[in-house]
Amino acid sequence: MTAVLVDDRGPLWVVRLNAPDRRNALGRAVVEGLLDAAGRVAREKAVRAVVLCGEGPNFCAGADLKERQGMDQAQVREFVGLLNRTFRAVESSPKVWIAAIHGPCLGGGLELALCADLRVARRDAVVGLPEVRLGILPGAGGTQRLPRLVGVARAKEMILTGSRYPADEALRLGVVNRVADNHEAAALALADEVCQGAPISLTQAKRAVNDGWDLPLEAGLVLERACYDVIIPTQDRLEGLRAFAEKRPPQYKGE
Ligand code: COA
Repeated sequence: MTAVLVDDRGPLWVVRLNAPDRRNALGRAVVEGLLDAAGRVAREKAVRAVVLCGEGPNFCAGADLKERQGMDQAQVREFVGLLNRTFRAVESSPKVWIAAIHGPCLGGGLELALCADLRVARRDAVVGLPEVRLGILPGAGGTQRLPRLVGVARAKEMILTGSRYPADEALRLGVVNRVADNHEAAALALADEVCQGAPISLTQAKRAVNDGWDLPLEAGLVLERACYDVIIPTQDRLEGLRAFAEKRPPQYKGE
C-alpha cells in the first residue's frame, strides 16, 4: 500500500497520509512518502495550493511508536532528522499547504499540521502534544512552532500538560483557522480561494510572512521589498492590471 497518496487536480493537489491501520502514524514509509510528495509539489509549476489530509478515522496519531520501539539511539536521532527535514520541506514549500484535520491529531501529527500555512479541523478533531507523558518532548518543531503560532503561555500549557483539546478549543486557542462539519470540503474551498491568487504572488507572500514576521520591523520591511521585487517583472502582475481594467477574471500563468 502506498503510504502517501498524491492526487493531481491541476492547481490544487491533495496529499493524503495513507496508513489508516496505524492511524497514519509517522513511520519511515509515511515520512519518506511525504518528503517525496513535498518535492513533487514544489517542482510542479501548475500547483498553487495543497490540501494535506489523512485516510481513515483520523489525520495522524504522531510518531510511529511501534516502529520507534525497534530503533536504537542512533536510529532515533537519524529518524528525527529525517522527520524535521520533511516537516521543513512542507513549511518552506513555495506552495500554500492547508492541513485538513479530523479525529485524533497528536504529537507529530499536530507538529506536521503546524507546518502547514492554514489548518481546518472537523468537529471531532482532537489536538495535543502528549510527548512529555511518553518520556520525550515534541521534537519535530512543536516546542518552537506552537509558541510562535499561539503565544508562549498557551503553548506551554499544551506542551507541559500534554492534554488533548477538542476542535472548538483548538479554534479558540488559535491552533486551527476553521472548524467545519466536512473538513476536507472546507479545506478544498479554502484552497480554491487561495488558487485565485497569482502563483508567484502566493509564493512570495508566504515567504515574506514566514521569513519576516519575527524580524525587527525594519528588517521585515526590507524582506517584503525583496519579495515584491521578485513580482515586479512578472507577466502575471501585468495580467492582473489588464484584467482589472477589462473587468474580467485574470488568467495567471505563474510567469
Ligand atoms: N504509532 C503506532 N501505531 C499506532 C499509533 C502510533 N502513534 N497510534 C495508533 N496506532 C495503532 C494502534 O496500535 C492500533 O494497532 P493494532 O490494531 O495493531 O493494535 C491501531 O493503530 C488502532 O489504534 P487504536 O488505539 O485501537 O485506535 P483508536 O481509534 O481507539 O485510538 C488514538 C486512536 C490515536 C487515539 C490512539 O491510538 C492513541 O492514543 N495513539 C497514540 C497517540 C500518541 O500518543 N501519539 C503521540 C506520539 S509522540
